Amino acid sequence: MENDIQSVLFSEERLAEIVQSIGKKISEDYKDKNLLMVSVLKGSVVFMADLMRAITIPCSIDFMAVSSYGSGTKTSGVVKITKDLDINLKGYDLLVVEDILDSGLTLSYILELLHARSPKSIKICTLFDKPDRRAVDLKADYSGTLVPDEFIVGYGLDFDEKYRNLPYVGILKPGVYEK
Ligand code: IMP
Ligand code: MG
Repeated sequence: MENDIQSVLFSEERLAEIVQSIGKKISEDYKDKNLLMVSVLKGSVVFMADLMRAITIPCSIDFMAVSSYGSGTKTSGVVKITKDLDINLKGYDLLVVEDILDSGLTLSYILELLHARSPKSIKICTLFDKPDRRAVDLKADYSGTLVPDEFIVGYGLDFDEKYRNLPYVGILKPGVYEK
């Protein structure tokens, strides 16, 4: 697996620092609120697991899954819910936790849907942000770090369902997705 990585963009240590700093901010901002963190599977699962432990106030969690990518590296714009939330959103201050905000198409669809369920508030937290590729007017309320317009893998992010278990984030060698 390591042999497929061209270069490491974010080490384990750097990711931990980023996650701690977002967790600290969220803990302050939500201390008098009713925080529900919603992880969008599967990419955000590693970030979610670390972020929730960097949050020092009580919070609830839930998961939903949508499919948007197929196995390629470009967004299709087609989004389908494959797993819905268990929790009724009324009374909750929702924080949608995403791995990466790219075109924004996936998230804008999810937000519209969640909005209709009348939570007290909705905010977006993304670990990575690729603003160059935004196709809709969408800004994250919490964003870990900007990334260049390259396809990255690791720390939950996949290519063709692989590399999610890399503890760091890197760029694949071009040969890997030309196979
Ligand atoms: P969007 O709808 O274009 O914003 O796509 C967001 C989703 O695409 C993310 O949740 C990821 O699952 C996936 N994605 C976007 N960029 C990358 C990348 O560089 N590596 C891996 N997955 C990505
Ligand atoms: Mg994802």
